[in-house]
Amino acid sequence: MIRIFLLGFMGAGKTTLGRAFAKAMNMDFIDLDYYIEARYRKTVRQIFEERGEDGFRQIERNLLHEAAEFEDVIVSLGGGTPCFFDNMDYMNGQGLTVYLECSPEVLVRRLKLGKDKRPLLKDKSDEQLMDYVVETMKQRAAFYEKAQLRMNGARLESKKQVAESVEELRHLVNL
Ligand code: S3P
Repeated sequence: MIRIFLLGFMGAGKTTLGRAFAKAMNMDFIDLDYYIEARYRKTVRQIFEERGEDGFRQIERNLLHEAAEFEDVIVSLGGGTPCFFDNMDYMNGQGLTVYLECSPEVLVRRLKLGKDKRPLLKDKSDEQLMDYVVETMKQRAAFYEKAQLRMNGARLESKKQVAESVEELRHLVNL
């Protein structure tokens, strides 16, 4: 049985890599944000608006505990999932944790395109985005660094790179 948790900052490519990996390995794929949205029939943005970040983090933790019981699965987390409650220690006990690392430059380039659906970024100008990413990354680093394994998330920009990253992850987790 294998259970993998993919973590990293918003824009690191967790969903892209997780989905491609699951397809290639014939495993189940759970994207925690989509899982939450399907269960609550609301977008992450609506949940933030209605319940605040604290309410969202509670839901995120509850549904993480559900997804972390599934078998032969790769779970792509939200960027903040590892940084609340004891989520990181819990996941380290449930399976393999992989930190998808990316430089702030790469993250900001990708996030400029996806700001609207991310409640923590929606009001930031492109100029404010770099400061936000650098500052938030500093606060989150200690949590992300608890991951058992790491890989580079920068090379997910073409079909070929995604396929190569899938191979890299396969070796990393010994599959
Ligand atoms: C968040 C990241 C988002 C989503 C929510 C909060 C964060 O997921 O869970 O908007 O705190 O970094 P992605 O990393 O998939 O964008």
